[in-house]
Amino acid sequence: PQINFEEQFQAKVDAEIKIEPKDWMPDAYRKTLIRQISQHAHSEIVGMLPEGNWLTRAPSLKRKATLLAKIQDEAGHGLYLYSACETLGITRLQTIEDLLSGKAKYSSIFNYPSLSWADMGAIGWLVDGAAIMNQVALCRTSYGPYARAMVRICKEESFHQRQGYEIMMVLSKGSAAQKEMAQDALNRWWWPALMMFGPTDSESSNTEQSMKWKIKRHTNDELRQKFIDASIPQVNYLGLTVPDKDLKWNEERGHYDFGEIDWEEFWNVVKGNGICNKARLKARREAHEQGAWVREAAAAYAEKRASRVNE
Ligand code: ACO
Repeated sequence: PQINFEEQFQAKVDAEIKIEPKDWMPDAYRKTLIRQISQHAHSEIVGMLPEGNWLTRAPSLKRKATLLAKIQDEAGHGLYLYSACETLGITRLQTIEDLLSGKAKYSSIFNYPSLSWADMGAIGWLVDGAAIMNQVALCRTSYGPYARAMVRICKEESFHQRQGYEIMMVLSKGSAAQKEMAQDALNRWWWPALMMFGPTDSESSNTEQSMKWKIKRHTNDELRQKFIDASIPQVNYLGLTVPDKDLKWNEERGHYDFGEIDWEEFWNVVKGNGICNKARLKARREAHEQGAWVREAAAAYAEKRASRVNE
């Protein structure tokens, strides 16, 4: 009898056996993983920019050292993810060229400006918090290299989330002006953080297939709800409020109800028309061009070493 590779593959996925780089996989599975992992990697790298903006203005040496370490972690996350992506047969250079040409996406959240020091708190707390909610689930994703990269990334992200929340705690218990700054940051980052989870399930083109392949373990709406439920007690503890007049505990559902997300704003940002899209891509393009000599030198050195071993 003829072997049905597709069926065997699905049976493996259903049995929670990880798919590894050399295993047979459907082309569409490979393609959607390259799409998702490369976009995830780009998000980590572009995500360094809004925080980098505040490094030289951190209020103390300690804050500066912590923020610097956190941003460097994000660079590391990008590198693990590019490596995981390369195991699927695409080069890192190709994925980066796809970002720079505008073909590949990166998270909408990083197209918003970081306007005050409190934004460093709100980003660590809410943006990294939303990222963790999504990434903890991805530790069980069906593709081995992606799942394994997620384990370390999640550990580091939880440190990031705590450093952000601690900044918010200090500000919200500080002077009236500091509390106002914390509230203003929460007002600006709340809705964009909810948008990070992607379109609502009925509009999400990839979810059904990605759930079947166990690339995604929860839908966009499930994770968004979990994030809201976890965040509201934290908001309350800070003595702040979320900018959503429809937010209300729903006893029957056992979840918070929340207001309508501005999907027009979301798609506008995804299409490249957010406040910072052009500046973000310009910064990445310049970094890529100015870093060309480093890549060339590293390649020449690697080649020299390899030829020595063969002598
Ligand atoms: N920003 C930009 N684009 C988005 C976003 C977002 N927040 N959410 C969804 N999209 C895009 C999708 O990429 C997709 O477009 P594509 O098919 O051209 O790739 C389209 O909107 C429709 O969305 P979905 O069908 O729901 O897409 P998908 O199944 O890939 O789900 C999600 C989106 C949840 C972001 C998923 O890709 C994922 O879990 N990615 C890994 C996590 C990640 O990338 N995190 C980045 C931010 S966290 C951080 O870097 C610190």
